[in-house]
Amino acid sequence: MDRISRIAVIGAGTMGHGIAEVAAISGYNVVLMDIAEEFLENALRRIRWSLGKLGEKGRLKESVEDVMSRITTTLSLEEAVGNADLIIEAVPEKMELKKNVFSRADKAAPPHTIIATNTSSLPISELAAATRRPDKVIGIHFFNPPVIMRLVEIIRGEKTSSETVETAKSFVESLGKKPILVSKDIPGFVVNRILVRLLNEGCRLVHAGEASIEEVDATARYKLGFPMGVFELLDYSGIDVFYLIMKAMKERGVEIHICPLLEEKYRENSLGVKTGKGFYQYPEPGRFVKPALSEDKAVVDTVSLVAPPINEAAWILGQEVASKEDIDVATELGLGWPKGVFKLADEIGLDRIMSSLEKLWKKTGWKEYSPHPMIKHMVEEGMLGVKTGKGFYQYGEVRVEKIGDIAVKVEPPIAWIILSRPSKLNALTSTMLEDLDKAVKTVLENDEVRAVILSGEGRAFCAGADVSGFKNMNSIDAYRFSRRFQEILLHIDRSPKPFIAAINGYALGGGLELALACDLRIASSEARLGQPEINLGFIPGAGATQRLPRIIGVGRALELVMMGDMIGAEEAYRIGLINKIVPPERLEEEARRLALKLAEKPPIALQAAKRAVKEASSLPLEEGLKIEAELFGLLFATEDAHEGIDAFLSKRKPQFKGK
Ligand code: COA
Repeated sequence: MDRISRIAVIGAGTMGHGIAEVAAISGYNVVLMDIAEEFLENALRRIRWSLGKLGEKGRLKESVEDVMSRITTTLSLEEAVGNADLIIEAVPEKMELKKNVFSRADKAAPPHTIIATNTSSLPISELAAATRRPDKVIGIHFFNPPVIMRLVEIIRGEKTSSETVETAKSFVESLGKKPILVSKDIPGFVVNRILVRLLNEGCRLVHAGEASIEEVDATARYKLGFPMGVFELLDYSGIDVFYLIMKAMKERGVEIHICPLLEEKYRENSLGVKTGKGFYQYPEPGRFVKPALSEDKAVVDTVSLVAPPINEAAWILGQEVASKEDIDVATELGLGWPKGVFKLADEIGLDRIMSSLEKLWKKTGWKEYSPHPMIKHMVEEGMLGVKTGKGFYQYGEVRVEKIGDIAVKVEPPIAWIILSRPSKLNALTSTMLEDLDKAVKTVLENDEVRAVILSGEGRAFCAGADVSGFKNMNSIDAYRFSRRFQEILLHIDRSPKPFIAAINGYALGGGLELALACDLRIASSEARLGQPEINLGFIPGAGATQRLPRIIGVGRALELVMMGDMIGAEEAYRIGLINKIVPPERLEEEARRLALKLAEKPPIALQAAKRAVKEASSLPLEEGLKIEAELFGLLFATEDAHEGIDAFLSKRKPQFKGK
């Protein structure tokens, strides 16, 4: 068909009224139908309120009244569809009810009309069978609230024609939304299918007594950067919604052990925000208050939480239900994850995901945890993700170069500089220092690299300067050594690219000073840090007397330098010497995650941030403020600043180019 101009929305509830609103905003004439006048009045009130909000934010091109004038209402389904080019059904998720709507709409609508359903769990093909036009029946699945959520799933039923798919896609695009094509009518489609694996896993952890509700939610929010925790989201969207999706999946043959916690809440009618009580308690039904979650509760293993949804995504891809790119867009826009599910998998490493799944499989005996053959195959082929340069996506080629006892691993867009003299706990000789400088130069010159991680091989980050070189050293040589060491660390400190120290073990003397020159320090819980020089009869000579007080204050710095004792990671975190502590086995992953995150930031602004904080902050306030303003002004000459602002205003993710 040529063009859609008249839309009928059947059902004026949460989704129906939102869809009608979105369509009217985009210039379509909409007839909204429901079975009682009060539902329609309520819907119009909600639309008007929402349009008012959009208007206040300057996101409406016309007046509220102009948009409202395109929406009419009726209690007659036949009247609603009689003139429509596209019908969108959004009645409650009951098969018989929906079939009835479809069959009546089919009889009353013109032959060219497309009949779409906004179902999130029922088979499109079964609805299509209630009509005489299965080729013109399709799923158009909006997310709640339609006016905000950019993603729309287009679901092809068994008999849906390509023409119908194309028309639905253009319609969705004309609403300013992003359609993804779901080519097979699988229960849960893409977004919910991936999401329920996360939700069910969070529930299993709590049900099995392996974690608390708060721990799961804090982990999802703070460690994974998801917009909401598992239980928070269940409550927010309605426990019944997900319970019914899971049930539909199970009934249609999907391997899933629905967590008894969900069943229980469903039976008790504790459905979340709408009933005032779910996993959390709310002040009154319908009033959402974000649960307060403390960041130190974020202790659940993130890999085990996301491995099941990643496995599901691999299944969806393997069945050719949707493309890799569309699945990633779905998780980013539909779930608000900071990264698409496959990008996340690549970042974590497919080997770790596979072993996490195998552990879960062994523990529960549930087949749903068996790693998808695609994941197994990728692991066998060494396609582990970012760290091998290839996973679900292709990254720059991973190259490892040895410069003396320093290994440089370029894993675009990040690089690792690894001190590799483990037998001497990576103690730095003069030659090794020079090699470190060369390594730093190499990564700084490499345009592919946007963030650098410094770490050590074996059980130390670096146990300091090699003390054996100090034997028979005279004052002049010691002065020169100190100056050169300082100079090399200054190259890191002042470098335009961000450096992260991943402190895997001992960071002592010059080793800690190396970490101090970096911009962020994360440490394994087993790390030991200190400035033991005093015990050898001298003081630190590679910057600790200057950088330590700037980072942790004079009092603490003096204590470390004068006492020469080692402190553990917990203490180091408490005094602000390190930014984060992670279990030893997660240090590499966490460092990579941080570096990849930095690699997505605007490089010139990062550089300015480093300058303003690290250089200008030790100047007199007035001078420092001046530099801050100059840098602030300068950044408005970059393309990235404009990109960042545009992206924010149009609610998309910015792409920074370093220009
Ligand atoms: N310079 C030279 N060699 C060093 C070194 C340093 N800074 N730090 C460790 N090593 C060597 C050790 O001599 C040892 O070599 P060896 O096997 O040939 O004897 C090897 O690294 C392993 O260290 P070891 O002392 O056996 O390990 P440990 O677990 O018993 O102790 C430390 C670890 C870090 C507590 C201890 O090595 C130490 O105190 N190192 C010196 C730290 C220091 O003072 N740094 C400041 C220098 S200015």
